[in-house]
Amino acid sequence: MKKRAHAHRCIGILTAGGDCPGLNAAIRAVAKSVMHYDIQVVGFLDGFRGLVENRFVALDDRMVSGILTVGGTILGTSRDKPHKMPMGDTTMDMTEVAIANARRMHLDCLVCLGGNGTQKNAFRLVERGGLNVITLPKTIDNDVAMTDICFGFDTAKNIATEAIDRLHTTATSHHRIIALELMGHSAGWLALGAGIAGGADVILIPEIHYDIHAIAEFLNIRRQSGKRFSIIAVAEGATAIGSVPGAPAQADEKKKRAKSDKAELPIPGVQKEPLMIQEPMVNRIVRELQALTGVEARMTQLGHVQRGGTPTPTDRLLCTRLGAMAGELIAARHYNVMVGVRGDTCVPVPLRKVAGIVRTVPVDHPWIQAARRVGTCMGDRA
Ligand code: F6P
Repeated sequence: MKKRAHAHRCIGILTAGGDCPGLNAAIRAVAKSVMHYDIQVVGFLDGFRGLVENRFVALDDRMVSGILTVGGTILGTSRDKPHKMPMGDTTMDMTEVAIANARRMHLDCLVCLGGNGTQKNAFRLVERGGLNVITLPKTIDNDVAMTDICFGFDTAKNIATEAIDRLHTTATSHHRIIALELMGHSAGWLALGAGIAGGADVILIPEIHYDIHAIAEFLNIRRQSGKRFSIIAVAEGATAIGSVPGAPAQADEKKKRAKSDKAELPIPGVQKEPLMIQEPMVNRIVRELQALTGVEARMTQLGHVQRGGTPTPTDRLLCTRLGAMAGELIAARHYNVMVGVRGDTCVPVPLRKVAGIVRTVPVDHPWIQAARRVGTCMGDRA
């Protein structure tokens, strides 16, 4: 397409939801690829809030140079949603303002880089105001629908795997059980991927409710066979059989979990301690396993370390491919799609097929089958 055909076109980019490594690589790729067509780019600051509050920067070639390897996002991010935005002491629907601002700037398209929440919020802007939107799937949780992989996941998986590697040496030295809590919201991709790559002995994911007795039996058998340490990778959303499932990361969800803790049946043989408000699930698992096995147990929460630092080469490559494809779609005025990955290719998928759908791990997924085949306990008696 000729440059002249795109004169005076302008697009906006924003990054929303939790940050992750690769956002800058994706911003760079989108911006550089549309600059090629002489299309101007602005970046809204702090997610959808920047669009509502008219806070943006021009993303010229200089601004997007040297950011490929930089973690986080140069635009800042927030979890604010246009339709429910805290404004002072109150929460308001700012959708119309967001749309009006985009229109006033004559934006051809708004490129939204984000996870599930962002896909939904972007689609709302399409439905409510007819804005042209393109999204890219970003999240360490890897749970966006209609794509084989999300950017940020590979880097987080690497960080989590390295943590498991490091826990092995200390667990071996002290002959302990060590449980590592990993992020992932309500999906088990991160704990499963890192757990397998790090050789965790037990992997607990939200998709398979765990039986603490089954895990204790597995650990006892392991010990009897001469293996004196065990590593458990626990997804933050993992839940025990019989408890209310949920993704505990957000503060309000943690409160729900604290309530569901109260409602749980006592575990035979386990002295239930007084309820600790918002006791992390991994804490509880370790406490119960120590009681059931008699083996000293410790826990580690990796937390936001999983989202920090420079993206892996795999993520840099993925972000560049996704962003470049978004640039091509913008040039072709092909809107209201997410650029997803299918096999070896990047493909546009209708946003309406993505918004509101969480891609959890199928219980018969090949990763789970492989884990079971090498003797990993998935928390159940299968
Ligand atoms: O969605 C990414 C993620 O890191 C989840 O894995 C986690 O549950 C959540 O964000 C943590 O959110 P915040 O950074 O707002 O505490």
